[in-house]
Amino acid sequence: MNNPNALKTLWTDALANAEAPCGVSLREHLLEVHRLHPGFTEGCATKCRDAQRRTSYEWLCDVVDPARHRRILDLACGSGFLLELCRDRFPAAETLAGVDMSQAELALAEKRLAGKGVMLRECFAQDLSFADAGSFDAVLCHWALTLMDPVEPVLREVDRVLAPGGVFAAVVDGDPADAPGYAEINDLVFKYVREELPTYGDQSLGDPRTRNPDALATLAGDFFASAEVNVETSVFTLEGPVAAIAEEAVGFFYAAFVLPPPGRASLLAEVKAFFEATAFDGAAVFSLPVSRLRVERA
Ligand SMILES: C[S@@+](CC[C@H](N)C(=O)[O-])C[C@H]1O[C@@H](n2cnc3c(N)ncnc32)[C@H](O)[C@@H]1O
Repeated sequence: MNNPNALKTLWTDALANAEAPCGVSLREHLLEVHRLHPGFTEGCATKCRDAQRRTSYEWLCDVVDPARHRRILDLACGSGFLLELCRDRFPAAETLAGVDMSQAELALAEKRLAGKGVMLRECFAQDLSFADAGSFDAVLCHWALTLMDPVEPVLREVDRVLAPGGVFAAVVDGDPADAPGYAEINDLVFKYVREELPTYGDQSLGDPRTRNPDALATLAGDFFASAEVNVETSVFTLEGPVAAIAEEAVGFFYAAFVLPPPGRASLLAEVKAFFEATAFDGAAVFSLPVSRLRVERA
């Protein structure tokens, strides 16, 4: 990494030294990104809508049947947006709990959920030993499964804590080919990031199987015996003035957080130019490919 103002973590150090980063360095990297930018996910995700005008948080919540699923866990709850939505949509829920490894995110969640009867806990998704077997009817995970490395212990733990008749659902990145313009913006982000860290992107953040619908379905099928597993795909869009949409789009990518301010400004200018070229009546559209894994236990 040649710029002293760029984000520096064990992960970026490993990449800068052309070493293969390990799961521990990924966690430290993510913790640092979230310490510096807590709540950034909800900033973008709450503005993006699907064809039915739902946010991806609402789409995820739709798997919950309030008559059967009364104990809900939000895995990697971040700033607590999904938990607040669950509190509002499922007032009769007996248990609402959220876990996350980031203190900075949990601090936002605590503030938002104070007095709402939600249990929050700082822990890794790979170790849910605070929870007894079968203690949740719904485990939800919004935009975090793709970051978990290793992912197998996470799925093993979800399998353990999920009760009979329960549902596990996760919203994850979808196939870029489904969302017009997404691949182009992704390529621009990586072009600038690779100027800082030439090997960034050679290895995916988290387990690459979680980013491919078929591989994700196979992976989940291996962990949840006699459950119905499916992965649905969708596209969420955010529409507005070019400059604002360019900011939101860049802010969505973890990779962009490693850029020093001048690199980020140049990236932003190019993304803005991209949106200007594709805008209609001054309005730009950022399209986001999204998948929803759903595991229904008998
Ligand atoms: C993209 S954010 C999503 C946050 C929240 N679910 C949302 O959508 O608003 C990813 C979250 O996953 C958490 N996370 C990543 N890996 C984790 C792990 N192994 N265990 C617990 N939390 C993890 C991060 O701390 C971060 O809060």
